[in-house]
Amino acid sequence: MAEPSYSLVNNSTGEKIDLPAVTGTLGAPGLDVRQLYRDAGVFTYDPGFKATCSCSSAITFIDGEKGVLLFRGYPVEQLAEKSSFIEVAYLILHGELPTATQLEVFDHSIHTHTMINEALRRFFDGFHYDAHPMAMMTGVVGSMSAFYHDTTNSKDPKQREIFAHRMIAKIPTIAAAAYKKYFGQPFVYPRNDLDYCSNLLHMMFAVPAEPYEVDPVAAKALDILFMLHTDHEQNASTSTVRLAGSTGCNPYAAIAAGIAALWGPAHGGANEAVLKMLGEIGSVKNIPAFLDKVKDKNSGIRLMGFGHRVYKNFDPRARIIRDQCHKVLERLGDKNDQLLELAMKLEEIALSDDYFVAHKLYPNVDFYSGIIYKALGIPTNMFTPMFAVARTVGWVANWMEMMADPTAVIGRPRQVYTGADTRNYIPLAKR
Ligand code: ACO
Repeated sequence: MAEPSYSLVNNSTGEKIDLPAVTGTLGAPGLDVRQLYRDAGVFTYDPGFKATCSCSSAITFIDGEKGVLLFRGYPVEQLAEKSSFIEVAYLILHGELPTATQLEVFDHSIHTHTMINEALRRFFDGFHYDAHPMAMMTGVVGSMSAFYHDTTNSKDPKQREIFAHRMIAKIPTIAAAAYKKYFGQPFVYPRNDLDYCSNLLHMMFAVPAEPYEVDPVAAKALDILFMLHTDHEQNASTSTVRLAGSTGCNPYAAIAAGIAALWGPAHGGANEAVLKMLGEIGSVKNIPAFLDKVKDKNSGIRLMGFGHRVYKNFDPRARIIRDQCHKVLERLGDKNDQLLELAMKLEEIALSDDYFVAHKLYPNVDFYSGIIYKALGIPTNMFTPMFAVARTVGWVANWMEMMADPTAVIGRPRQVYTGADTRNYIPLAKR
């Protein structure tokens, strides 16, 4: 089949420019406009990158209209039912599901890289007692290149692999250390006999004063949540990792940039914002008045956990998590907690409201993840750090893919300049 191509016509001169299309395996092709400025003297204008592909990638596919999410071709529903976070991490990094031996070797490597340098651990002493855990994570991950010099040569595939394992293994330890600092509790060292999510729960909730048993329901819920959050194509934080990484900076710095980008309430900070919003609404009877405010454009209030740049249908991750949410709350939730009732009623009313239907606004993954985290006893300011732990896999995989691509170049967008026209300098005395 011939490659599709498109033409752009200058309506003033009649001049026609042919634009080749880059086609992938699934989804819409991308028009290759790289030579457009050279050939036609115009840029493309797309603030927010609503119609721009910044790269080709073989990791994740999303069909936002149909609500489809594939990791390396595998539907996320199948992975959530049959796989585990660590297996999906391997799949995302390597492109194929592992054999039993490959999984064992990978899992062992992750398990045996969980400790952080003691000097790096002491960085936490320097933070203010009530620093947000995301602030601490950004700073500590950004400092990792100062400790792991042997993995900063991004041109060396072996160093890249060691970096990948280290980053994925140590990020739960860093997140848990931020949590302990916030609560003024002693740091808990990782336990390599525990699986990835159980170990994170252990490092967060164990205290020296008494034994701590990880609840398997909590660990399983976290495993599924993490699996669903591993990657999501060229979202804001992943694009940030790629943009920072495209300069050739060390990989830890690129991941720190991703953590900073994830923090915002329009992205990873939404799960925290959902809980705050539910607290503000307070009770089911206040939902209609709150939704009126959301629909009033002048209020500046959004229904947090609703809407998505790509999904104009139910977020497939939200569907899976919704079921998980019920299981977790049944087992671990506070029976007197009105939060779920409020969230479910809000979801029901919003889904049948003309405004949300017309704008194709559906619950996204963060609408439910915050409720699960709360039931697991995780405080609100740790919600986004939990997301960061899971998304580290996707950031690392995207960075690795970019580094292995010989055609990758530094990311450097252009702009439409709207400032003053050229003018002459006026001496101070004459202004
Ligand atoms: N509540 C109310 N109205 C909304 C919402 C919302 N949550 N989201 C979008 N809209 C409306 C906008 O007002 C706009 O209306 P208009 O066309 O009448 O002017 C229309 O829907 C399109 O909105 P945009 O902001 O252009 O959509 P965009 O794709 O840029 O935004 C975003 C996506 C940022 C996620 C947005 O839906 C939002 O702010 N949601 C709440 C925050 C949230 O839950 N973020 C988590 C995203 S998922 C993740 O990062 C894991």
